[in-house]
Amino acid sequence: MSYPHVATSGRVVVTGTSGRLGPAVVKHLAQHGWDVVAADVAAPTQPLPAKVVKVDLTDFGQVVELLTGFDECPPVTAVVHLAAIPAPGLRPDAVTFANNMTAAYNVYRAARIAGIRNVVSASSETTLGLPFDVPPPYVPIDEDYAVIPQTTYSLGKALEEDMARHLVRWDPTLKFISLRFSNVMLPEDYAGFEAWQDDAKLRRWNLWSYIDARDGAQAVRKALELDATGWDAFIIANADNAMRRDSADLVAKEFPNVPVKRPIVGRETLLSIDKARRVLGYNPEFAWQDQL
Ligand SMILES: NC(=O)c1ccc[n+]([C@@H]2O[C@H](COP(=O)([O-])OP(=O)(O)OC[C@H]3O[C@@H](n4cnc5c(N)ncnc54)[C@H](O)[C@@H]3O)[C@@H](O)[C@H]2O)c1
Repeated sequence: MSYPHVATSGRVVVTGTSGRLGPAVVKHLAQHGWDVVAADVAAPTQPLPAKVVKVDLTDFGQVVELLTGFDECPPVTAVVHLAAIPAPGLRPDAVTFANNMTAAYNVYRAARIAGIRNVVSASSETTLGLPFDVPPPYVPIDEDYAVIPQTTYSLGKALEEDMARHLVRWDPTLKFISLRFSNVMLPEDYAGFEAWQDDAKLRRWNLWSYIDARDGAQAVRKALELDATGWDAFIIANADNAMRRDSADLVAKEFPNVPVKRPIVGRETLLSIDKARRVLGYNPEFAWQDQL
């Protein structure tokens, strides 16, 4: 990425704000001075420090108005696109694909129409090859290998990343950042982590990783506030694994033939956050064992 100035403060639309990750992102951005418009097709599940707007993102006209402004909802300078059907298997594949791809296209395209140059979007750890029936090329996993989606859901996320990359090729003054989130966890989920401690196979599918929604929100803000242009992708996970065991032991048991790219320290995440730390200044704060 190169680094001329894009608007990194002001008014931002966040989509998907009635879901798991969205409320934490809205609260965190508001706490850090952002004026937030919270957009979702569903009603909010909790009070939000934001202007709440009901929008179906598969309807292009609604998305254009959302980003260019309408009565009592002024235009914005940035977008955080989180809305999606968030996993494979929740809806038939074609529904997931149609909803997620159309919503992403509409948001990205309407952003161009609105002159918005700062877009942060939720991608997914699944693009990295989950559920690893075919083992990963190496561990810790990082952003250095091309995505290998294995489901329609993650195919959509991979194509959304590619779409962002091409839009930036058309207009190199844009900034698009794709955040490849690990499995999103809320504080109330941590009691359930005991359920898989005795069987490494139960969380093998994502290399025993997770992302606390509040740390996900920090990553969103730091991506939003990065003064940059171009497209880039970052793995966003917590710094530790979701087990009480060392990560190297888990690899030795479940992926004995996978090359180890660098020494693995203690319970460190096998979805490397080195790039997010280095470029975004991301620094997760909410380790699950501290929350019990
Ligand atoms: N949950 C996870 O473990 C996980 C992991 C990696 C990436 N992600 C991604 O992070 C993002 C947020 O995930 P989440 O767990 O908060 O999901 P969620 O399902 O809890 O929330 C998503 C929200 O998007 C809204 N939405 C979906 N389609 C819409 C549309 N067409 N128009 C308007 N709103 C729409 C839904 O109503 C919902 O409130 C998603 O893009 C998801 O794919 C999630």
